[in-house]
Amino acid sequence: MSGEIQLYCQNATDQAVGAKDGLNLQELQGQIGGRISEITEMMEQNRQKGKQTAGAYPNRKIDFHDLPYRDLPYRDDMPERVKKLAGQLKGRFENLVVLGIGGSALGNIAVQTALNSPMYNLLAKDKRPGPRLFVIDNVDPVQFGSLLELLEGELENTLFNVISKSGETAETASQYLTVREMLLSKGLKLAEHIVATTDTKAGTMRKIVDEEGFTSLEVPEGVGGRFSVLSDVGLFSAAMCGIDIDQMLAGARAMDKRVSNKSLMDNPAALFAAFQYGFYQKGKRLSVMMPYSYQLKDLCDWYRQLWAESLGKCQNRKGNDIENVGPTPIKALGTTDQHSQVQLYREGPNDKVFTFLEVEKFSREVVIGDAGEVKELSYLTKKNMSDLLNNEKRGTEYALLESQRPCLTVRFPEINAHAVGEFIYMFEVATSYMGELFNIDTYNQPAVQLGKKATFALMGHEDYQELADNIKAKIKM
Ligand code: PA5
Repeated sequence: MSGEIQLYCQNATDQAVGAKDGLNLQELQGQIGGRISEITEMMEQNRQKGKQTAGAYPNRKIDFHDLPYRDLPYRDDMPERVKKLAGQLKGRFENLVVLGIGGSALGNIAVQTALNSPMYNLLAKDKRPGPRLFVIDNVDPVQFGSLLELLEGELENTLFNVISKSGETAETASQYLTVREMLLSKGLKLAEHIVATTDTKAGTMRKIVDEEGFTSLEVPEGVGGRFSVLSDVGLFSAAMCGIDIDQMLAGARAMDKRVSNKSLMDNPAALFAAFQYGFYQKGKRLSVMMPYSYQLKDLCDWYRQLWAESLGKCQNRKGNDIENVGPTPIKALGTTDQHSQVQLYREGPNDKVFTFLEVEKFSREVVIGDAGEVKELSYLTKKNMSDLLNNEKRGTEYALLESQRPCLTVRFPEINAHAVGEFIYMFEVATSYMGELFNIDTYNQPAVQLGKKATFALMGHEDYQELADNIKAKIKM
């Protein structure tokens, strides 16, 4: 169907870049095709098992490995709840501030950049489909302080969506506490200005929600932050900002059908994973994603986290030590980074595989001005800017192929909510395939926990005094 996003692999094959640097499709199919078929079957079984046991034993903890993220697009309760709440709140607030980090922020940013105007926050109120959106995923005092200063006179019109599965993440917790104090100091009712998105049952934020009487949304059980964008986590800010979340979920469901196919060549998530895995085995361990669309740039940040946190591991699924694995995801924006990275990409080490994101039809056009008497620039006269952008993509791809650098392309017929839903779902499932091919646990992130605990220790958390002493001895502060 012409309306679907497509994965184009030809320029990553041996035919395009030679046998040393490309993959042979038949060989890939022979080496990985059977395994892909098994993984597809196994994922489907786990998914069904998870659904059945969750239904039969409502108190059973839902397991990440049952892949509940795969069924988020089918859960009517989420979009219904989110749309109802957005309907109640939308007209009342001029600003929506999302406080969250990692999987509790990157999807929100990505969806907003992809589907609303790049100038969204600067538009007049009547030209915007919702409140201004600020997603603050850091604790930089200058950034956060500046936002608070901006909002100080507008707090009455500001809604905060605190997103944290655990409620313990220092960044989000510190933002929440600061905002809480500010709202109280202005005599405002917290429950009227805070919506919390958190674990349904456990965690510090759930406790706060219960004590403060906040309206709350759900981080679904068994779904890690980086797989949660198609739940309340990502849907609420999107719905508040006028994004068609039903179409996003429809796109994800359409992709679910394609990525449930056991045949490697007919399953874009499996095919993407097979190429990435094949290149990893060939020593190309850096994976560059390069969108030729400003709208798609933050989806690359989202994908970077998904890929890195899921696949960088040193233990197999049984918990035994293995050689450290994990491709390094890199983001580069076309055309901007042509003028920053391409020298390295062509003449530096041939250790990368490139994934371009290309758009066939942009939602608007700019016709380039007339060069008049300036002959050197006349080739640009009255040309479409979208043609320039897409030809720059082709030009860069050609140049990379001339240097035997393998290139994949994900082609968007256009950027709309359906296509963004397809993309998100395809890359989530591709990540699951990669984890299975590496035989690792895709859904944990043990290495991140130590840094989180160390921060608690260094900030004086009484439960971590011994760790604080160890850190101080080691890094000699
Ligand atoms: O993907 C993940 O699990 C992480 O990136 C988390 O989303 C991130 O660490 C934030 O955690 P929390 O939602 O508990 O505040």
